[in-house]
Amino acid sequence: MSDSILDIETVDLDDEKNALVIIDQTLLPGEVKVLHLTAQNEIWEAIKTLRVRGAPAIGVAAAFGIYLAAKSIDTDDFDEFYKKFKEASDYLNSSRPTAVNLSWALKRMEEKVLLNKDKSVKEIKNILLEESRLIKKEDTDICRAIGENTLTLLKPGMGLLTHCNAGQLATTKYGTATAAMHLGQKKGYNFKVFCDETRPLLQGARLTAFELSAAGIDTTLICDNMAPTVMKKGLVDAVLVGCDRVAANGDTANKIGTSYVAIAAKRYNIPFYVCAPTSTIDFDTSSGESIIIEQRDPYEVTGLWYEKPMAPEGVKVFNPAFDVTDAELITAIITEKGIVRAPYKENLAKVCKGV
Ligand code: MRU
Repeated sequence: MSDSILDIETVDLDDEKNALVIIDQTLLPGEVKVLHLTAQNEIWEAIKTLRVRGAPAIGVAAAFGIYLAAKSIDTDDFDEFYKKFKEASDYLNSSRPTAVNLSWALKRMEEKVLLNKDKSVKEIKNILLEESRLIKKEDTDICRAIGENTLTLLKPGMGLLTHCNAGQLATTKYGTATAAMHLGQKKGYNFKVFCDETRPLLQGARLTAFELSAAGIDTTLICDNMAPTVMKKGLVDAVLVGCDRVAANGDTANKIGTSYVAIAAKRYNIPFYVCAPTSTIDFDTSSGESIIIEQRDPYEVTGLWYEKPMAPEGVKVFNPAFDVTDAELITAIITEKGIVRAPYKENLAKVCKGV
């Protein structure tokens, strides 16, 4: 086994073994375990339970997952193939509702099927293999470009704050919000990064602090409710977060607690940057109000990380996995194609669609 978590692929395909290969992120940082998932219900479960998580990584996992489903469909008849492909796609798409990358990747794979309906099923399967690998490769290139664009806004020695894990573990490499941290580290920028622990699933503590420390980046873990304190002390020059879906007006869904960080950043005049691959921008969703927010198991709040239950038995729990940060709190949305500022409706369309 490799020494560093950064040397292990977050999501991969083992075509010979018909397996989606992932790091089981529910076990990190205590145990580094690589899983080979072959059955569709195992892949669905891995996305649902966050063994593989983070919007771009979910998209890549879905692309490999639907390729594996397609590969196993035993027919030469296109209509029968397409019907079973659709069923498998709808099934994977039902695993998590908020990150648009899931449906984006499945739709992109389906478009390949429809575009090549005149070819044999065997050829279509090969096309899907290539497309899924391309989605993975593009993600790495996109994250790197986001990191380079982000670096133009930062200076060496800056204090940065991030929430949840928009890191390499949420993507195929570099991360989105962490890409500039990783690239800056290689250039000797010496950033000082504060990671919110990110209740209730602790992605900041378990994943971001783990991967940034592994890269040798100056990393300080804080509880979520400490962000305003480090901001007030002047220790934070910029906030960098990822996102699961950006609405056409710039409202942004990301891990629960992100909007609280944005509100605090506004109070202390700290730029709040959202790092977003353009695949996360959903022009079909006009504003944050129509983004479906995943509700999760109350046990994540009351007991999951505790030795004993930390809440009275049967207490009502509200456990939304994401919140929406209003566009007006966002200083800029940093994509692989450029840095987008308000007014977002016009400028997101300009950068993404060239209109
Ligand atoms: O529930 P998770 O862990 O999948 O949530 C992840 C986030 O909110 C990330 O910030 C987001 O997906 C961006 S990852 C580059």
